[in-house]
Amino acid sequence: MSRPRILVAMPVFDEVLARLGEVFEVDAPCGSDDYIEWTHEALVARLQGCVGVAVASSPRIDAALLAACPDLRVVASMAVGYNNIDLAACTARGVLVSNAPDVLTETTADFGFALMMAAARRITEAEHLLRAGRWTHWAYNLLSGADVHGSTLGVLGMGRIGQAIARRGALGFGMKVVYHNRSRLDASIEQQLGARWVGKDELMREADHLVIVVPYSAASHHLVGAAELALMKPGATLTNIARGGVVDDAALALALRERRLFAAGLDVFEGEPGLNPDLLTLPNVVLTPHIASASVPTRRAMAELAATNLIAALGLGPDAGRPPTALNPEVLALR
Ligand code: GLV
Repeated sequence: MSRPRILVAMPVFDEVLARLGEVFEVDAPCGSDDYIEWTHEALVARLQGCVGVAVASSPRIDAALLAACPDLRVVASMAVGYNNIDLAACTARGVLVSNAPDVLTETTADFGFALMMAAARRITEAEHLLRAGRWTHWAYNLLSGADVHGSTLGVLGMGRIGQAIARRGALGFGMKVVYHNRSRLDASIEQQLGARWVGKDELMREADHLVIVVPYSAASHHLVGAAELALMKPGATLTNIARGGVVDDAALALALRERRLFAAGLDVFEGEPGLNPDLLTLPNVVLTPHIASASVPTRRAMAELAATNLIAALGLGPDAGRPPTALNPEVLALR
């Protein structure tokens, strides 16, 4: 009997490919290294005859693609954010979608904190100065930055990663934590984290260090734009580890250039892997290429989880019929 065919549309660990290869006929054009920027047409062509696809925060899986790939039953993402996947369209077509929550929470929170600290303490700017041979003498005001300990941490989006960042701030750095989220946390969790819910404008005004961890959707597009930036303290920092598009990057670049904001740390960008060219010219922004979850063990866990979901959602393996992190498990009941 022939094995079901799947496409792995992203580079992934060899051992994960090997595991998938035990149950599927695997098309893995990216292997473990080469990234492919899929066009809609190329992806559709490659998906013909495939019942499953493994993706990450790209490529885009939308209604047009689903209509052109009638065999597709499962889309398993190794990312936690799934704004590249039209979940409603998948559900309407009976296509199961899974993402990869939890396994990356602590690693991503570590990185968000690191980026915030790098922006506040001007770490990359300092390194550039040193590497350029421009360090000539000790000076009391050389690259002095903002304190993190004891300051006010603002968290926009208080899901799992937001809470992990708040915990680091409150317990490790004695920070006062304010947050804004559509729904408030239980009072017991607020108490544990020492976190206080505030309105969005108040968050902007109060935060010394704002970390953005809100999922991207039409509703969160430019959630932080010129008006919100204008509320922030000139000595504050902004860190975005959520998605490009949650922040208006052009407005942010202007605020940084005009020193209406002290510094920023950005791991995600509007239009990535491209980015607003103004950001590249500014010394007071730390830029990283969407790597917040990129520790080796975490990236492995994310890929393994996507594989487990694919196998289980297609009725194979020990979790057959119970993909552990399905986003629309209701479609399984209809099969
Ligand atoms: C990465 O950005 C993810 O959503 O996992």
